[in-house]
Amino acid sequence: MNADGDVMRFFEAPLSREQSDEAIDRYNMQMVRDGFTMFAAEERETGALAGVLGMQTMRYEIPNLPQPAVEIGWRLGHHAQGRGLATEGARRVIDHAFTTVGLSEVVAITVEANTASRNVMRKLGMTHRPELTFDHPKIALGHAHRLHILYSLSAHNQLSIN
Ligand SMILES: CC(C)(COP(=O)(O)OP(=O)(O)OC[C@H]1O[C@@H](n2cnc3c(N)ncnc32)[C@H](O)[C@@H]1OP(=O)(O)O)[C@@H](O)C(=O)NCCC(=O)NCCS
Repeated sequence: MNADGDVMRFFEAPLSREQSDEAIDRYNMQMVRDGFTMFAAEERETGALAGVLGMQTMRYEIPNLPQPAVEIGWRLGHHAQGRGLATEGARRVIDHAFTTVGLSEVVAITVEANTASRNVMRKLGMTHRPELTFDHPKIALGHAHRLHILYSLSAHNQLSIN
């Protein structure tokens, strides 16, 4: 999945085997450190890997965003896309973030052109925060996907929606 150029088209580049393994090592380290991380998402019926989905403490600062910020994120293999699975999984992540971990806010980031991911954010009730648009510090200067937009959801809003 991480090497698939289509799945990764809104990222800086597909990941090599080494980069993908490093990401999984980082997710495991974050679980030990924070008690939450990006998880392997499995298809309920078969247990097959659908993708990666979860929450993590951001590894860099975004101007004017209170720190430490926690982002929710999702990436699915082709076979798992377009079935509402990211939204279903993200709802569980948000519930975990607010009721179990006790966070007051989560954010999500993407590039402007990533309509599928933005639709997930919208369906989750997240708010686009144009004033927090930023250059992603881990993406090379001049790269077409460096500029990122940010959505946020506060526990207060989520609880009042429910
Ligand atoms: C983003 C992603 C996780 C969405 O997961 P998903 O389970 O397919 O999402 P959904 O099935 O709930 O679809 C989300 C919405 O986007 C729409 N959508 C899906 N693919 C789309 C596309 N290529 N262009 C425009 N809209 C699209 C769907 O119709 C749906 O909208 P609707 O509910 O209003 O009909 C998935 O597309 C993916 O893994 N993409 C590649 C990795 C990626 O970009 N991750 C996000 C990085 S920020």
